[in-house]
Amino acid sequence: MEKYYTYIGESTHISTYFAKVDLNLPEWQSYMGWNASIIPLESVLLEDTLARVHSKLPIEGAAVLKMEPHTCYKWHIDTERGCSINMLLHHTNSLCLFGKEINSENLAIRELNYNYNEFYLFNTREPHTVINFDGMRYLFSVKFKDFVDYNTAKSVLCQNAFENNTFSKLI
Ligand SMILES: [Fe+2]
Repeated sequence: MEKYYTYIGESTHISTYFAKVDLNLPEWQSYMGWNASIIPLESVLLEDTLARVHSKLPIEGAAVLKMEPHTCYKWHIDTERGCSINMLLHHTNSLCLFGKEINSENLAIRELNYNYNEFYLFNTREPHTVINFDGMRYLFSVKFKDFVDYNTAKSVLCQNAFENNTFSKLI
């Protein structure tokens, strides 16, 4: 099964910031089935990796998405965006899976096993699910200003890596 995510860079600012604050403090609003706390663009752009992304593919903004323990976000594709950039801020025991239909009853699955402090380009147009077993789960997620599909974004950001030698762990 194909891999529907790509490591694009490390976090030095946002991960450090959220490690220091109480993640229960921000205001939460309902967004596409998530509890979301909006992060303004000027804060997003303090992160070097995301500022470089923004120079190639404009970012609209970002949000922290909160997920309650013992819940599952059903298998779905995102209808309003072609791809995103995600970073796991905190979890205890959760899974993010991509799935590909084998037949009418079975899916092949592949896990996005997030490392902390790392941003991943995420193909939101492929079926995916999140299962949160224990503890609150917090994910930082970027939305691009214009619709861009995963393969286009990946090639643009990979080109950026070759030009600037900045994204060091492209797979
Ligand atoms: Fe999604």
